[in-house]
Amino acid sequence: MSKPSKKDSPKGKHDPRNQVNDLTGREWVYFLNSMELEGGEPRIVTGEKLNELSEEEWAKFLAPVIDTLYPTSGKEAYAHHIRKKHPSPKPPQLMKRLIEFFTKKGGWVLDPFAGVGGTLLACSMTGRYGVGVDLSAEYLELYEQVSRELNLEPQKVYQGDARRLGEIFRGEDYLFDLILTDPPYGDMLSRKRTGERKKKTGSDAPTPFTDHRDDLGNMSPEAFYGALEEVITESLRFLKVKGYVLIFCKDMQPTAEHHNMIHADVVNRLMQIPNLRFRGYKIWYDKSLNLYPFGYPYAYVSNQLHQFILIFRKEPSDHPMP
Ligand SMILES: C[S@@+](CC[C@H](N)C(=O)[O-])C[C@H]1O[C@@H](n2cnc3c(N)ncnc32)[C@H](O)[C@@H]1O
Repeated sequence: MSKPSKKDSPKGKHDPRNQVNDLTGREWVYFLNSMELEGGEPRIVTGEKLNELSEEEWAKFLAPVIDTLYPTSGKEAYAHHIRKKHPSPKPPQLMKRLIEFFTKKGGWVLDPFAGVGGTLLACSMTGRYGVGVDLSAEYLELYEQVSRELNLEPQKVYQGDARRLGEIFRGEDYLFDLILTDPPYGDMLSRKRTGERKKKTGSDAPTPFTDHRDDLGNMSPEAFYGALEEVITESLRFLKVKGYVLIFCKDMQPTAEHHNMIHADVVNRLMQIPNLRFRGYKIWYDKSLNLYPFGYPYAYVSNQLHQFILIFRKEPSDHPMP
């Protein structure tokens, strides 16, 4: 081992080949910093924290499945009797858990398919700012009714086509921390009911969200994927770098022609958006749904009681994923 020279310091070693000065290698490098103002070292940034969870709470959230059985009556139902006027309202309690992982208090959350406000109610419950857009004035009005009933501060909502967010938000300087949304899935939901479902409801009538031609729920699958990409691309203009995009998605029963793993097709399509990286998914298992004896006793037909929560992040331009 070489003996430390007189010129060595806690900041490193002096290189004997250095004929210019007595600096150590590290001191030399710091001197090369064009932005050195008073000789101090640059602050090392270890990254801004994502949320306020403890390490244990963080680890718990990373479990792949969230299973829930929320009440549909009483105080804990969050005015389900009003929200159920929408064909598929999301439980605000579930949205709360997602918001608490992906943002901090005072964070901003966008839902471009707000419906009766599962995301927006969760913002009010957690001290976040929410902004919602929906094609249907009726659903937004129901959301406001729910907020009044629950005595929650209503969040900002806009009626319009989420493919035109740029126009809708003209004059605003929104910068969101999170996009949390549950899009309508093509004409899939509005397909005629068959089998057990038809028996249960006594009708084969489809249940579209609206009759509007701009409703993604009324589009063919091909048009739907293009429209969803448009909405997410528009939304990303208002999302901060390293902000997350969470998209709910339910698969369909496979057919002879297609696997119908809609979540995989959505990921394939959205991965084409520059700087949007897929980071994985969580599964939401909704235990409030009924199990039907589909196929009994002839063939296996699965019950889809779960949905995917697809997780993307907006990466810095030209920046590889860490
Ligand atoms: C699955 S629902 C969202 C439900 C919502 N998460 C909730 O908790 O009520 C999808 C919503 O997207 C809306 N929608 C469909 N096409 C749209 C479009 N082009 N722009 C904005 N909203 C649209 C529908 O009116 C419907 O309320």
